[in-house]
Amino acid sequence: MKKIYINELAEYVGKEITIQGWVYNKRSSGKVKFLVLRDGSGYLQCVYFKGNVTPEVFETADKIGQESSVEVTGLVKEEPRAPGGFELDATGLNIISEAHDYPITPKEHGVEFLMDNRHLWLRSSRQVAILKIRHRIVKAIRDFFDNKGFTLMDPPIITPAACEGTSTLFETQYFDLGKAYLTQSGQLYAEAGAMALGKVYTFGPTFRAEKSKTRRHLTEFWMCEPEVAFADLNDDMDLAEEFLEYIVQTVLKDMGEELKVLERDTSMLQNVKRPLPRISYDEAVEILKKNGVEFEYGNDLGGGDETIISNQFDRPVMVHRYPAEVKAFYMKRDPENEKFALAVDVLAPEGYGEIIGGSQREDNLDYLLQRIKQHDLPQEAFEWYLDLRRFGSVPHSGFGLGLERTVSWICGLDHVRESIPFARLIYRNTP
Ligand code: 4AD
Ligand code: MG
Repeated sequence: MKKIYINELAEYVGKEITIQGWVYNKRSSGKVKFLVLRDGSGYLQCVYFKGNVTPEVFETADKIGQESSVEVTGLVKEEPRAPGGFELDATGLNIISEAHDYPITPKEHGVEFLMDNRHLWLRSSRQVAILKIRHRIVKAIRDFFDNKGFTLMDPPIITPAACEGTSTLFETQYFDLGKAYLTQSGQLYAEAGAMALGKVYTFGPTFRAEKSKTRRHLTEFWMCEPEVAFADLNDDMDLAEEFLEYIVQTVLKDMGEELKVLERDTSMLQNVKRPLPRISYDEAVEILKKNGVEFEYGNDLGGGDETIISNQFDRPVMVHRYPAEVKAFYMKRDPENEKFALAVDVLAPEGYGEIIGGSQREDNLDYLLQRIKQHDLPQEAFEWYLDLRRFGSVPHSGFGLGLERTVSWICGLDHVRESIPFARLIYRNTP
């Protein structure tokens, strides 16, 4: 027998079918029992009339606990008021596994309780909607680069050196070879890939032993990092804005129902269209001053600063040319003013802050060697990376988009912990 899913019911109106799923909710009014079934594809109200079913079935429908797994049989009817637009005039109810005292009930629960029960919390309609939007974003990311002739390249997760500063490394002992680290970013390997394939992107988990306990920081998060040979900072910003427009407009087009479940006001998301505003770090500092922020020139922008800056715009804003001191060793200096790095951060509106960080890379061997020394990095570990400047070095650029921050922004979440199936945070590594 062909397995039928709830989101296929339009094809079965007037027919008797069987659906397998879980009891999401139930209600009763005297001679009628309502079971709302979920199967991952949607929700289906199953109506049991006392007169239409055997006493055993009616009794089972009355007693069955939330999240019991079942098989229901009945006639598919169109019902515009029901979620999904269909209803089942049910006759059969077969229990596969009975559940009692499911811990997550329709009442409000505290966040820590829900995170402790994350393996079950995932079943709620809100979490299902977030997971589906995350999946759509992942596919949009891949489609975008695949359609532009980029090659997906998977960098290693166990690495011999830091990419984004030595203070957030997860360390491990690697057999007889000494210390190794979980990757903070696939970028350095993507640069090797770009010199082989021209345009590449990485997409995978990255790790930061972040001491930050904020709503934007995970210790394990997914990052997509494109890297392009023969591209400068302007090319990088052109790519980033086209990329963001594509992701957001795709989600708006395809995920309307899920955004509705999340009660997401999409008016700001509709604005995510090219061109995105581009301002320099100096212009960003001016905005902070005008808003009465005491900001020390030369510092990196903090989360609160980013919110004030992005509030001036109706769509994401690109901030470029940061003081080189606060940025990574591999960034190329601005030839017009050596104090600045050819860096760009893209700040999302509505208080979400940095979702993309990128730059043009230092392509000069001598300058790069100097930077490695200045940053106190072990040169031996970077010899292979330096080879990219010894053999056919070219101007090249790229960026990294944080998947969870992007999902949080598009879904309108309060905290990144809901944007990933099982969040890893400074104070949590279970379930
Ligand atoms: O700005 P970051 O550190 O840049 C890099 O890693 C570069 N190597 C990227 C590149 O040029 N190829 O990180 C990039 C993005 C941030 O903008 C943010 O969205 C996300 O990764 N990110 C985090 N997301 C969640 N939790 C954390 N602890 C994050 N750290 C960075
Ligand atoms: Mg950054």
